Amino acid sequence: MAAVLRPGGLALDATAGNGHDTVFLAGLVGEGGRVLAFDVQAAAIAAARARVAAAGLTARVEFVHASHASIPDHVAPGSVAAVMFNLGYFPGGDHAVITRAGETLAALDAALDALKPGGILTVVCYPGHPGGDEESAAVLAWGREKSAEVCRREDTPRPAPFLVLVWKRDTPDH
Ligand SMILES: C[S@@+](CC[C@H](N)C(=O)[O-])C[C@H]1O[C@@H](n2cnc3c(N)ncnc32)[C@H](O)[C@@H]1O
Repeated sequence: MAAVLRPGGLALDATAGNGHDTVFLAGLVGEGGRVLAFDVQAAAIAAARARVAAAGLTARVEFVHASHASIPDHVAPGSVAAVMFNLGYFPGGDHAVITRAGETLAALDAALDALKPGGILTVVCYPGHPGGDEESAAVLAWGREKSAEVCRREDTPRPAPFLVLVWKRDTPDH
């Protein structure tokens, strides 16, 4: 992220949650940059907004209380330097509200369209919770089609979270 997201850039946090990633992205885009942070839960938006405010970064962040499937309604194709997905549920909130494979894949396609050439998309997947296995497998299959890099530990007793990373090539065919 730090290698790609430069001051003045536009980044998307597709799953704001408690706002840790939003703060990280807002730090990288600098004063002239912008972060759009999506979440479907009002409690998550409130938590993320508070964390961003505590970090003094409010002016750089816009919150969208809607699904990340609505990315195309908020940004132009090819305008975004980096997109971060951190799947699963809202820690400390309702664990029944989770990201789900169908909507996640639609949002990943939308995010890839939103990325500019040379941009980066990262997805942290969480197998091991109800719904998480199916979603993780779907994201892996999606990533395979996009020549994604996968960072995954195989030596854990239970399935560990893993990272799927896609670079959008400098040519139009990603
Ligand atoms: C693991 S948490 C994200 C953690 C967060 N990035 C952080 O730094 O604290 C996953 C979040 O995804 C949100 N979520 C679930 N479905 C969503 C959707 N369709 N669009 C956007 N966010 C969604 C949940 O409400 C939850 O807050």
